[in-house]
Amino acid sequence: MYTSKISGLGHYVPENIVTNNDLSKMMDTNDEWIQERTGIKERRHIKKGDGNSTSVMGVKAAKIALERAELTTDDIDLIVFATLSPDMYFPGGGVQVQEMMGMRTIPALDIRNQCSGFVYAISVADQFIKTGMYKNVLVIGSENHSGGLDMTTRGRGVSVIFGDGAGAAVVTRSEEEGRGILSTHLHSEGAHAKELSLEGPNTSHWVPEIIAENPTENIPYYPYMNGQFVFKNAVVRFSEVINEGLQANNLSAVDINMLIPHQANLRISQFVQRQFKLSDDQVFNNIQKYGNTTAASIPIALSEAWEQGKIKEGDVVVLAAFGSGFTWGSAIIKW
Ligand code: ACO
Repeated sequence: MYTSKISGLGHYVPENIVTNNDLSKMMDTNDEWIQERTGIKERRHIKKGDGNSTSVMGVKAAKIALERAELTTDDIDLIVFATLSPDMYFPGGGVQVQEMMGMRTIPALDIRNQCSGFVYAISVADQFIKTGMYKNVLVIGSENHSGGLDMTTRGRGVSVIFGDGAGAAVVTRSEEEGRGILSTHLHSEGAHAKELSLEGPNTSHWVPEIIAENPTENIPYYPYMNGQFVFKNAVVRFSEVINEGLQANNLSAVDINMLIPHQANLRISQFVQRQFKLSDDQVFNNIQKYGNTTAASIPIALSEAWEQGKIKEGDVVVLAAFGSGFTWGSAIIKW
């Protein structure tokens, strides 16, 4: 029986820091409102000409993860790439990463599960390894949000929240029982698909129509979020899916050494922290610096927590995410 473990982590964020005060020069918002509601102080945005894109940032994070796993690209059997902001409508970021990293003709799979993308991607990697099909899977979460946000007052309820960046993990076959990725738990509820969505361009409103209409107002080409509805669902689902993971492994909240929640909003993380009675050093948050980087948020946080020595051998690490779809999931890892 094979098990799987995370053998290397890496992350990359663009150099360009955009503070709340910077945003207040583009739209009617202010530092106090943003910090009070979301905890965010600043985020990174790709700067035109800096060479970054969703797949380029993914490659930068992946190279670090591979080096830390002490593996080369030839060792990788599968790429799983999670994003909601691919460089191209198709093909996906996975094949672009493959090309940029000069990898063999291994399969590349894209995951479209937004904020839960990384947890879904880890679960896919885990299944392929546990069945014995693959030995090493490169999992990447990367987002270029800044390229597609409405940076005017009209979009302020959404645009202040999101940032750019990438994180990566190498998931590797192991034979050590009771260690590594113990289990993953995935859910979705399509009834709420539109509550956090970007509708256009889509195949029922395709490019010729867009050009013919030349729309200027009320276009669905920017993300929409029903913020309070998302918040209410997020706090319930985060708790449910963390509990589901703990119970599946005969664990309880007191066994958690480190919770890495998807960095949706600091208020959501704090709510979950209180529900599980965790101390500040049992929950890792970096949304203050990076905003919400969707599929990249967990791998960036995991990589930073690991770099800072906050994750040690034998620790129970819990990953949990909730987001557009709605989709949500958790992973329970014995490090
Ligand atoms: N700056 C200043 N004022 C703003 C801004 C802004 N950036 N955005 C909205 N406002 C105004 C609104 O126009 C509104 O004004 P009004 O009362 O005059 O109409 C007022 O602030 C309150 O707006 P709400 O949308 O009701 O604000 P709310 O308290 O719900 O906070 C927020 C919004 C932060 C998005 C909140 O709903 C939330 O945290 N939702 C959770 C969703 C979330 O975190 N999503 C993250 C991405 S999804 C994910 O990762 C799961």
